[in-house]
Amino acid sequence: MKKRVLNVVGARPNFMKMAPLMWAYREYPEEFEPVLIHTGQHYDANMSDAFFEQLGLPEPDVYLGIGSGSHGEQTGRMLIELEKVMQRDRPDLVVVVGDVNSTLAGALAAAKLCIPVAHVEAGLRSFDPTMPEEINRKLTDAISEYLFITSEDARENLVREGVAAEKIYFVGNVMIDTLMRMKDLAARLDVRSKLGLDGEFGFVTLHRPSNVDERETLAGILQALRTIQEELPLVFAVHPRTRARMEQFGFWQEVSDLPRLKVTEPLAYLDSLCLMQHARLVLTDSGGVQEETTALGVPCLTLRKNTERPVTVTEGTNTLVGTDPDRIVEAAREVIRSRGKRGRVPKLWDGKAAQRIVEVLRQK
Ligand code: UD1
Repeated sequence: MKKRVLNVVGARPNFMKMAPLMWAYREYPEEFEPVLIHTGQHYDANMSDAFFEQLGLPEPDVYLGIGSGSHGEQTGRMLIELEKVMQRDRPDLVVVVGDVNSTLAGALAAAKLCIPVAHVEAGLRSFDPTMPEEINRKLTDAISEYLFITSEDARENLVREGVAAEKIYFVGNVMIDTLMRMKDLAARLDVRSKLGLDGEFGFVTLHRPSNVDERETLAGILQALRTIQEELPLVFAVHPRTRARMEQFGFWQEVSDLPRLKVTEPLAYLDSLCLMQHARLVLTDSGGVQEETTALGVPCLTLRKNTERPVTVTEGTNTLVGTDPDRIVEAAREVIRSRGKRGRVPKLWDGKAAQRIVEVLRQK
């Protein structure tokens, strides 16, 4: 009998993690009946539709249209709707990826209905309880049956929290599966000329509530960007949350007017991957971008005090620089001078993680 596997996505970083799983199920049409649910946590064309198109993801079988809201509202509405779908479809397994509110809602709805949950990208910990994703990670892992990890440090975190060792599978990184499949195609796109770039540049993304929701922190980071762009032109792809705060705090106009900093809408997957590959330096607070730059060997400065992805620092090209403007500028200058950390690609980040996951699921 075919296994009916319900796969939940909702926010931008989920889409490139789910795509390789959807490709991998297709190899076994007699064994799997995959169903794709999109909660609608992200709904803008350039936060969602563009990713489906570029990644060749099938249209979702179910679209819940949940949209934005406070954490409780958003997660609660997802839980109500996901439960209805799961009661109706009675899947054999629910697969969730990453650490967004849609991840937790999918896992919780399933666990309460006694449907086994597979968590892809389990065990990451920033040890920062103020980070909404940290709560999502811990709770999702606590109720999952299959915990697929991207690096060995995740195993230690899970075992410490009492997860049985036999539930943990080290399979590599599904997001890097997508990157490896798409990077050559992305590299050839003419994104740079469209943005008027004709030499070296740095690429910036910023969206963590802890960085953008407080006026002073955001002002300091923007001040650092202003200084860096005098030495290296920057492209800043602005997340909707960040744009809203910049407008609210009165920073938007001034930043848009900077001569060597180009602000853009959030970029589609391939465009972003193109810029990342060609960048001299990436400045970010995203989890995914820390991993992508490590896989690409591009120096990354992470504007956070901690990371749930320590392997990108110990083995990869990532450096944690926090949010102090002087420290950010100093670190950027160092990379511009020296070309930054070299790093190596972590174990099993080889483009085959989804195949390994599907292999595990086939045996169950
Ligand atoms: C969410 C994830 C975060 C992930 C990020 C990537 C959680 C807790 N956070 O944060 O882990 O790194 O996605 O983007 O799940 N908005 C739009 N259009 C959209 C989506 C959002 O305008 O398509 C605006 C809304 O004003 C919304 C705000 O962005 O209130 C924040 O969106 P939300 O989904 O709550 O969280 P993100 O900050 O995107």
